[in-house]
Amino acid sequence: MKRSCYCGELGVDDVGREVVLEGWVNRRRDHGGVTFVDLRDREGLVQVVFSPEVDSSVHEKAKEIRDEYVLRVRGTVTRRPPGTENPKLRTGEVEVVAREVEVLNASRTLPFKLDNPEVTEEVRLKYRFLDLRRPEMQKIMRFRYRAAMATREYLDSLGFIDVETPFLTKSTPEGARDYLVPSRVNPGKFYALPQSPQLFKQILMVAGFDRYYQIVKCFRDEDLRADRQPEFTQIDLEMSFVEREDVMEVVEGIMRTLFRLIDVELPEKFPVISYQEAMLKYGIDRPDTRFGMFIQDISRLFESTEFIPFKETLRKGGTIRGFKAPGGAVFSRKELDNWGKRALEFGAKGLISIKVTDQGLQSNLLKYLSLGEVEGLKEAFEVQEGDAVFLVADEGPIAAETLGRLRLEVAQALGLVPEDAYAPLWVVDFPLLEWDKDEHRYVAVHHPFTSPMDEDLPLLDTDPLKVRAKAYDVVLNGQEIGGGSIRIHKKDIQKKIFELLHIGEEEARIKFGFLLDALEYGAPPHGGIALGFDRVIAILTKAESIREVIAFPKTQKAQCLMTGAPSSVAEAQLKELRLKLTVSPDKN
Ligand code: AMO
Repeated sequence: MKRSCYCGELGVDDVGREVVLEGWVNRRRDHGGVTFVDLRDREGLVQVVFSPEVDSSVHEKAKEIRDEYVLRVRGTVTRRPPGTENPKLRTGEVEVVAREVEVLNASRTLPFKLDNPEVTEEVRLKYRFLDLRRPEMQKIMRFRYRAAMATREYLDSLGFIDVETPFLTKSTPEGARDYLVPSRVNPGKFYALPQSPQLFKQILMVAGFDRYYQIVKCFRDEDLRADRQPEFTQIDLEMSFVEREDVMEVVEGIMRTLFRLIDVELPEKFPVISYQEAMLKYGIDRPDTRFGMFIQDISRLFESTEFIPFKETLRKGGTIRGFKAPGGAVFSRKELDNWGKRALEFGAKGLISIKVTDQGLQSNLLKYLSLGEVEGLKEAFEVQEGDAVFLVADEGPIAAETLGRLRLEVAQALGLVPEDAYAPLWVVDFPLLEWDKDEHRYVAVHHPFTSPMDEDLPLLDTDPLKVRAKAYDVVLNGQEIGGGSIRIHKKDIQKKIFELLHIGEEEARIKFGFLLDALEYGAPPHGGIALGFDRVIAILTKAESIREVIAFPKTQKAQCLMTGAPSSVAEAQLKELRLKLTVSPDKN
């Protein structure tokens, strides 16, 4: 007997057909002397009927069957008796009358019912081989595969080629901590797992490949969150002889291709917003533009205010900003107090809330403001009855951060975030450098190979923090899903950036000598980007965390609960690597 088709594929067209099915027992039920088994394979379920009237020995055998046993069944596809169809099941109009059954393997009682929604993530991850059997997980993994294939086909059609780059390599400059791998044959030396193929893809451009891509694992030892894993996958690409817009066009094409998989048509061109505008309007460099509630700077209204906190804030160079929450007047006193507490947690000194009721504006603030100021507020936010307005008076960056985070939470609370909307956009004109207070030096916002804007080059000498980078992030529904830049391809500019970053010649040579060498041998102008593949898949499948779209993810503590990694190693292995532990691994 050999499998003739998948369980989940059967339908009325197959009625009368003799089939051989192989799969897992999803559920067994006994009903009026007849045994029903839902047999499951990767395509879905079909009901198999074991009836003593058809074959008493086969029916006897069916009694031994338990959940998740592996069966081979030969039988005939028949129409279900009228009234017993199951419209929820793709195969719900038919059933297979069993004539022969073979138990290919038994299964222990499962640690959790596969369809139990209550099971904890810990248990799911420990028994990932069972968890992945669930139809939802099968669907996600197949979707992920289709998305990878669609990406490959699209990039292939544009002339990109996939070139593999090493995992055992040198530290790359993405800014997270490296995972290190000791070298046995070079005692005391370590490889670093790549945080991205950044330097290699640039080398490939110097080598003349012109258009490179890879769907590739990257490794970063950083604090984990719902959208961060220590190893994750990028759609990584690099192109020669291009400007920012060329890279953007390719990414827009990839995104449109991927969203067509869920029947969503993204715009031909994504909106572009500058970093500066994003920070002002949304208080964050990855704005969620599915809804409005823009932050406005209303400092101007209070230029001659008598209200001391505002006056003081403005005198010290701070700002007064706020946003309107449509429908926010439903918040109770207590709820408003809670938003106030959130604002404190986000770093502001306080939050002013104003309700717009049928009596007009309502707030403790009002008695301190002039009539003109109140009117100005109303006008600025175009308030209507039922709205609320939230204001923060603080230093610019604190006001941005607080209001940016509050805007997201308030919109969620008011149900103003449309679930089925997709709002992609580009954030551009990032600053090239930022000042690291602790280290007393400039650090690269992106990475040290990001090109400054041509027109900002003179500022490198006079006002480095004002220099904008040829960098771009692609953002979707408030998540950063990709980032890239046009690179520096001239040695003199690279040297200047290293100087500003306090990366000495010696250090640069040790860290990226090979790239600097390559730049001296006819490097073409080039640029690229990497998309977080897991994040894109999570958005496309509406998964809560990227762990849901990775077959074998790690926990918040960077552990794999199924394999038990990371784990202790034998003394002999350490010895071979000439390593000595200063802690006992079991004590952690
Ligand atoms: P960047 O560091 O911005 O750029 O990474 C690109 C994208 O990868 C995703 N990402 C992650 N996803 C899951 N877990 C993580 N720990 C994680 N870290 C990043 C994000 C991010 O936007 N070499 C450059 C690209 C370039 O300049 O071409 C780079 O890696 O979606």
